[in-house]
Amino acid sequence: MNNQKVTDTNKDIKICHISDFHLPIEESFPPYKLLSKRIMGYANLKLLRSKNHQKEPFLRLLEKITEEKPDMLIATGDLVNLALETEYKNIADIFNSFGYTKDNLMLVPGNHDRYTPGAQRKNYFEKSFAKWLDCNGTPPCFPIFKDLGNIAIIGIDTAVWRGPVSAAGKINKVQLKEIENIIVEKCKGKKIVAAMHHPPYKLLDSHLKQYLSGLYGYKRVLELLKNRNALVLHGHIHVRTDLLINDTHIVGVPSASNNHGSHHKKMSFHTFNFDKNGDYKVYSTAYHAKEDQFKTDELLNGLEMLK
Ligand SMILES: [Fe+2]
Ligand SMILES: [Fe+2]
Repeated sequence: MNNQKVTDTNKDIKICHISDFHLPIEESFPPYKLLSKRIMGYANLKLLRSKNHQKEPFLRLLEKITEEKPDMLIATGDLVNLALETEYKNIADIFNSFGYTKDNLMLVPGNHDRYTPGAQRKNYFEKSFAKWLDCNGTPPCFPIFKDLGNIAIIGIDTAVWRGPVSAAGKINKVQLKEIENIIVEKCKGKKIVAAMHHPPYKLLDSHLKQYLSGLYGYKRVLELLKNRNALVLHGHIHVRTDLLINDTHIVGVPSASNNHGSHHKKMSFHTFNFDKNGDYKVYSTAYHAKEDQFKTDELLNGLEMLK
């Protein structure tokens, strides 16, 4: 689970963040694969998601990110829709075609990446993306630790299979303990960047929303990060968010493929430019596919919330 590469501590670091690909399924697959929770997800995909989430604009966004040569690209889950093997292969092929290695790409799973009990049990995510993990595709693969000199990235797995209509996340106790160990033993003097799919706070002050889609045990994560000026990157809610809880800066990125989203939901990536002290600026780059234009704005810490 430990990373092997250590980066020069005096170097400025650029991290890019994307999430929630939800690309349409173009490849054929056996119909019996839908005899599960997938039948609802497939209907949702055909009726709703496929109108908004499109592959070509997503590839253009990824091309733009790659041109920026980030030291690390972090993708925080929901890389597939129904956890079909053909979907994982498609995403792996895309990352391979852009030349990403585990030295410049970190992947963490989302709820859609563990959509069925079979996908979870057979470790589709870990096996399909073994090239970008440090566990050779055999769990436990998380937390992932990447040492970028003055920046320490911790990739956290919040994804767990749930029954129909639930998209909630959870971090198990073993992983929480390992995260604590990493923070104490490996992050001294470093800026901590934690990457996870589910946001570590209560969703919209609604118990039902939190129950169905929130992160169980998020308070423990916030506790572990408190008083460390940490940065958390997440996806899942498909909206750009930027807020402070205690001293933890939490930034959510919209889906990387939502071509029809309005301002805060528009397909985007975030760029974090760190100086050698760990201070950083955050930029949001949205892609307007119709005009083939990218628009970049600086995010101002803590000033925008769940609009
Ligand atoms: Fe998602
Ligand atoms: Fe999600």
